[in-house]
Amino acid sequence: MDKRLSAPLRFLGWLDDRIPVSRFWHDHMACYYAPKNFNFWYYFGSLALFMLVLQIVTGIWLAMNYKPSAEFAFASVEYIMRDVDWGWLLRYMHSTGASFFFIVIYLHMFRALLYGSYREPRELLWTIGMLSYLVLMAEAFFGYLLPWGQMSYWGAKVIISVFSVLPWGDELATLMRGDYLISDATLNRFFALHVIALPLLLGILVGAHLMALHHVGSNNPDGLEIKRRKDAQGRPLDSVPFHPYYTVKDIFGLSVFLFIFFAIVFFAPDLGGYFLEHNNFVAADPLKTPDTIAPVWYFTPFYSILRAIPHKLGGVIAMGAAVMLFFLLPWLDRGRVRSIRYRGPIFRGALAAFAFSFVALGVLGTLHTDRPWYNYTLRTLTAVYFAFFLLMPIYSRYDRELPEPERLR
Ligand code: HEM
Repeated sequence: MDKRLSAPLRFLGWLDDRIPVSRFWHDHMACYYAPKNFNFWYYFGSLALFMLVLQIVTGIWLAMNYKPSAEFAFASVEYIMRDVDWGWLLRYMHSTGASFFFIVIYLHMFRALLYGSYREPRELLWTIGMLSYLVLMAEAFFGYLLPWGQMSYWGAKVIISVFSVLPWGDELATLMRGDYLISDATLNRFFALHVIALPLLLGILVGAHLMALHHVGSNNPDGLEIKRRKDAQGRPLDSVPFHPYYTVKDIFGLSVFLFIFFAIVFFAPDLGGYFLEHNNFVAADPLKTPDTIAPVWYFTPFYSILRAIPHKLGGVIAMGAAVMLFFLLPWLDRGRVRSIRYRGPIFRGALAAFAFSFVALGVLGTLHTDRPWYNYTLRTLTAVYFAFFLLMPIYSRYDRELPEPERLR
């Protein structure tokens, strides 16, 4: 080994001879060529990665003082909030973190819809992303039972009863609960799934997501394939190395994000009941049903679709289909261009209507159903939601698209 090198460089050399650290940095950072025109929407992938790490780290510290038992769970959370040093901060970072994770993921997914990032050759990247989304939903659902508050208990009861209308539903519900009612056994298995099984699965899926991304390369706001035009060294002409250009961009994005995140953590951690429902500050009582049982905001668009259909099994099927249809997007879209910049008026209108229906269904899911216009509006929005997917093979094919430029703008 060259003695003139500094100690850290010698250590790196030693490592490189045993495990390819420099090669990894070279292939995935310094010489990973990404399109030069990434914009605001491209912040959310790295932010999702950050949220995953933050949830795991705060979760580990919460688990050091949390007791997964029906008798002590609620009190142990109170103990974390009041007596454990910095416990309140860890807990609020984790609970606010769950909502921010979903905000980031919804914006990340919307970006893919805007720029057609799910289209060939990125179908698998998209599919793996969707699998991570399903696991994230399950992770949030299992986590919500752990504080053992009123909404934890009754929310879990409603969601599990939703599964019981499916064929073999009673057996499935008993399997989920580990008992004939929600009990200590349920809390224990939800804890095991929340702290070990699903984070592990999510980590593996995110690893596969990034492998697929680096294999096919990133899409971009113009939706053009940059690999088609390369220089003499084989580098795409319209690209820049990920490091330092996008590491700096992502660090800037993260800094702004952290300001917003901690403003909420410090000044409104329950966000008026949207991030942590008021009823969840009351210990679970199996004998007292709360006035309203509604899931946390990130599930409400799907909850609304469940409520829009009067038939019980029909509602459950529609709710499941509303999530599953996302998987089919790469094959439903028949457009010749990818990016919204060159799509025709019909696709633009359809995407706007879909985004509106998703948000409006989410808002309606948090309201009481006793307003006269409620059901009518719910069903109209549900129809708009499904029409976006089901009519896509037709409207995306016959739309008046704009000509794409030769190179990135
Ligand atoms: C824990 C969850 C997730 C993490 C940590 C994650 C992370 C990332 C990262 C770091 C990138 C590259 C940076 C970027 O393009 O913004 C990326 C790209 C991408 N992700 Fe995700 N992602 C997650 C979930 C999802 C989900 C749920 C979907 C959609 C169903 C999705 C679809 C995509 C697509 C299509 C791209 C390529 C975008 C493009 O090149 O234009 N991801 N993801």
